[in-house]
Amino acid sequence: MPESEKTMFTSSTGIPVRDQYADGKAAKVWEIFIGDKKSRTKIYCDFLVNLLRSHGCHRILDVACGTGIDSILLVEKGFEVVSCDASDKMLKYAIKERWNRRKDSRFDNWIIEEANWLTLNDDMREYLQGGFDAVICLGNSFGHILDNCEQKQAIRNFERCLKTGGLLIIDHRNYDIICNGGNAPSKSIYYNSQYMTDIKTSLLYVNGKPTKVTLDCLITTDDGIKYEFGLSSYPHQLEEFKKILKEIFGYGCYHKILGDFKEINSNYTPGFYIHVIEKSK
Ligand SMILES: C[S@@+](CC[C@H](N)C(=O)[O-])C[C@H]1O[C@@H](n2cnc3c(N)ncnc32)[C@H](O)[C@@H]1O
Repeated sequence: MPESEKTMFTSSTGIPVRDQYADGKAAKVWEIFIGDKKSRTKIYCDFLVNLLRSHGCHRILDVACGTGIDSILLVEKGFEVVSCDASDKMLKYAIKERWNRRKDSRFDNWIIEEANWLTLNDDMREYLQGGFDAVICLGNSFGHILDNCEQKQAIRNFERCLKTGGLLIIDHRNYDIICNGGNAPSKSIYYNSQYMTDIKTSLLYVNGKPTKVTLDCLITTDDGIKYEFGLSSYPHQLEEFKKILKEIFGYGCYHKILGDFKEINSNYTPGFYIHVIEKSK
């Protein structure tokens, strides 16, 4: 079977979940795709760090660490970080960074594991004792689960990893604009590559409901090398996503929504919504 068709997991519905990162193409150009690492995290680093510190969070689980971008920022800031991701191709870059910086004890203590959100509690069993102060799922990752039942299962699994009073910080692109026929901002908090030459966004409707967004990306580097890759996501809309979170965390829990890591403001259309939700005390 070609690598690109490797399945990541066979879901409870019996539908094979394709690992969109299996051919290694996205991992290889991830840094070019998102732009310079430091410039990306600079946009939200202070906000994220202050948010975590103000809630007394120290032990963090990054469930979509990919090549390690947000985890690295947190390790550098002195948090105790456990990172995981389902894609070995993405993790390879995080593991390489840890190795290169192993003389720094903060990096030497950084834990990185392969784990799938749908089997998270099992895959990460040895680290769950006592629960995490925060679980982060950032960088437009969660949309990769297309099936509605599995989305709930994954959020339930994130919630189980938290200690009481712990925070889940999770984002999704502002698909409300796209589903209403508009265009999402082309530059965003996450994707700011100077090399991106083309992104085609297509929206698939099933029975009148937006069900899948596909991004086809073309990157051309200074020396003319072209990289193409595609990623599919579920187009989470704000109200629907709020409902999933509330169903699992409970209707009375603390829940704040930010637009591009800033307070929501009617004069500004965010590219991403970030949800901060607390496991009830
Ligand atoms: C868009 S990338 C973002 C990575 C990183 N957070 C960043 O911002 O650069 C999404 C990541 O989610 C991971 N992912 C997708 N579905 C997953 C699943 N079911 N379980 C674990 N990781 C998953 C992918 O392997 C990928 O590394």
